[in-house]
Amino acid sequence: MEKLRLGVIGVGSVVREIYQYLYFSSDFSSIVDVVAVADPNDEYRNWFCDKYGIASDRRFKDYSEMLDRAELDAVQVNTPDHLHAAPSIAAMKRGLDVLVPKPTADTVTDVDAMIRTAEETGRLLTVDFHKREDPRFKEAETRYQSGRYGQLQVAVWYMLDKLLVANPNHDPPFFASADFAEKNTPISFLTVHMADALMKITHLRPVAVRAVGWSQKLPQLRPRSVQGYDCCDTEIRFENGAIAHIITGWHLPDTAYSTTVQSARMICTDGLIDFSIDRPGYFEVHADGIFEVNPLFKNFEKDGTVTGYGMTSPGRLLQKILAFRAGRLSDAERSRLADPMELGFYTTLVCAGAHESLQRGQRVADGVTEGAPVDLRELLIRQLGTERAGRYLE
Ligand SMILES: NC(=O)c1ccc[n+]([C@@H]2O[C@H](COP(=O)([O-])OP(=O)(O)OC[C@H]3O[C@@H](n4cnc5c(N)ncnc54)[C@H](O)[C@@H]3O)[C@@H](O)[C@H]2O)c1
Repeated sequence: MEKLRLGVIGVGSVVREIYQYLYFSSDFSSIVDVVAVADPNDEYRNWFCDKYGIASDRRFKDYSEMLDRAELDAVQVNTPDHLHAAPSIAAMKRGLDVLVPKPTADTVTDVDAMIRTAEETGRLLTVDFHKREDPRFKEAETRYQSGRYGQLQVAVWYMLDKLLVANPNHDPPFFASADFAEKNTPISFLTVHMADALMKITHLRPVAVRAVGWSQKLPQLRPRSVQGYDCCDTEIRFENGAIAHIITGWHLPDTAYSTTVQSARMICTDGLIDFSIDRPGYFEVHADGIFEVNPLFKNFEKDGTVTGYGMTSPGRLLQKILAFRAGRLSDAERSRLADPMELGFYTTLVCAGAHESLQRGQRVADGVTEGAPVDLRELLIRQLGTERAGRYLE
């Protein structure tokens, strides 16, 4: 098999910003043939399909109809987080392999259902956490796992977007849907990246979470306000007693030097890791100001090829799917890909725990919610039952 016949479910912002280049202008485009698209939104479906010449009989409003009618090997599910599970499960039940953008899903019950379907159908489920392909995190993982730094004790990570990301009044809006920041939180959108990267480096499983949320800036936006959190601090306790604070928000003034200002520091028994994630070494002085440029993530090359870890991360997963379908994926790699940590299960667990912490929290000052402590083992047993939860607690 030369190419994967891919059905794309959902063609909103993440496709506009990242995946259109993966499919059509990356080093991985030669292994992908986008043969069908499903999205109920006429504007987005037609924008994508017109741009890339997808014929009208291969454009669908309903993904079930696409799965019935198109000849596919795999699907990429780019729907909002709470709509990842149903299309992924339906596709796997039809013998297709699946790629989803992070997070795997927004609840542990959804992620568990996806993992269970992958196990029952024997299909490959993969998740694009693009930070996992950032060369700095890959190097840190190898070195941390060699024992060079000892074990993690305390970490502080932060990831703060410019306000324009969450502001529905920004023209043009950053996201396809104006209510994006109301339907999502800094935890679901940003903490997810950092928690995953931290667990990728350390391989530590989380056992407890407590969050604090600030909602002081977004409700004041005009003319349209956002009833949601500006900023959240998620404290995670890991199985070895290590503590991490992951501070995320989307209310930095638009004059910030980077769309996402982010950094991390990890203090370990035998060393320190200090990431200047948003300082890839290239800044520009331009008529609009001074900005960090991050070609590591997305690099528009002179010949039109788009490279960077934003492409490498999903591209490598598509290569795995292609190898799997051609019978070329080793058993060792197959079982590595099926590991719950690899499938983002614990990342969703952290975020679900942080949301529950805030829901059960109390208001301690104007616009400030101090979350309740959440025992993640207890959350898992409550949501999945003792037997199924045990699979993730062993
Ligand atoms: N990799 C990343 O860094 C990254 C960045 C942004 C978003 N994401 C993830 O990508 C996913 C999509 O986010 P987005 O920002 O593109 O959202 P979006 O709201 O801009 O787009 C979602 C699209 O899915 C479509 N959709 C909704 N229900 C559907 C259904 N039943 N069938 C088919 N299509 C359906 C919508 O019409 C819309 O076009 C989310 O899971 C998000 O967390 C990942």
